[in-house]
Amino acid sequence: MRNNNSLSGKTALITGGGQGIGKSIVLALAEAGADVIINFRSNTRLASETADEVKSLGRKAWLWPYDLSRENVLGDYQEFSKEKQCPPVDIFIANASHQIRNPWEQVTIDEFALQMNVNVRSTLLLMQGVVPYMKKNKWGRILIIGSVQEKRPHPDMCIYAASKAALSNLVINLAPQLAPFGVTVNSLAPGVINTARNKVALSNPEYVEKTVRKIPLGYIGEPGDCAQLALLLCSESGRYITGCNYFVDGGMSLRF
Ligand SMILES: NC(=O)c1ccc[n+]([C@@H]2O[C@H](COP(=O)([O-])OP(=O)(O)OC[C@H]3O[C@@H](n4cnc5c(N)ncnc54)[C@H](OP(=O)(O)O)[C@@H]3O)[C@@H](O)[C@H]2O)c1
Repeated sequence: MRNNNSLSGKTALITGGGQGIGKSIVLALAEAGADVIINFRSNTRLASETADEVKSLGRKAWLWPYDLSRENVLGDYQEFSKEKQCPPVDIFIANASHQIRNPWEQVTIDEFALQMNVNVRSTLLLMQGVVPYMKKNKWGRILIIGSVQEKRPHPDMCIYAASKAALSNLVINLAPQLAPFGVTVNSLAPGVINTARNKVALSNPEYVEKTVRKIPLGYIGEPGDCAQLALLLCSESGRYITGCNYFVDGGMSLRF
């Protein structure tokens, strides 16, 4: 079977696509020919730069600024896509997340709600919005960005880790339900990747040394380490893969 990663004629919606792992996936999809709808929360400058890079690849890019912790996720998306005349979504990537460090005894209801709403609720609502077209079209790709913490939860991030575990459970629940319609549902779970959310931690050499000791491959990953697997799972080459969870973590999930 020939490599068939072309996404020409496809439209992808990716949450948190303005920077980090999301940006890297946006560019991989655009290089493969997809047009991209990029959600972000507040960093308009970075999201616009990402959109410009997509356009320089000859693809279309739309920017959807929306804080996914808010309730009207789907309503706002539908209004936005109607106003901007975005095509229906063939590929949905739930990448944005909110992550709060706090020992479990001190987690507040607001912290709980914020992480669950951004990470889980918005993913469910957007899937409810985009899947009907995928089913009708008999082709679709859903990719959830999970975390090594599904398997190796950090003691100070129990709700974040639980939200990622909830998402991976959603994957195995929905994959068989959507398979008859040609829609695959998978998850890609990064380990420690060099992005803005880790900037402070990774500027501490002691933290880096301690962390790298937990990674069998012996180094911190880069956003690009996630992008090609995402592309495979979202393209025709990945048509026979569904309900799977792939760790992109240098082997970190194997060690504690
Ligand atoms: N980096 C890692 O080591 C690592 C490890 C395991 C899993 N992950 C997962 O990988 C995914 C991407 O992580 P990353 O490190 O690339 O993140 P990042 O560099 O911190 O970027 C996060 C992106 O999500 C957007 N975002 C955050 N909260 C949002 C909200 N409430 N509404 C809408 N957009 C929101 C941000 O928008 P703005 O740019 O506007 O702020 C940004 O575009 C996340 O699901 C994360 O949990 C990352």
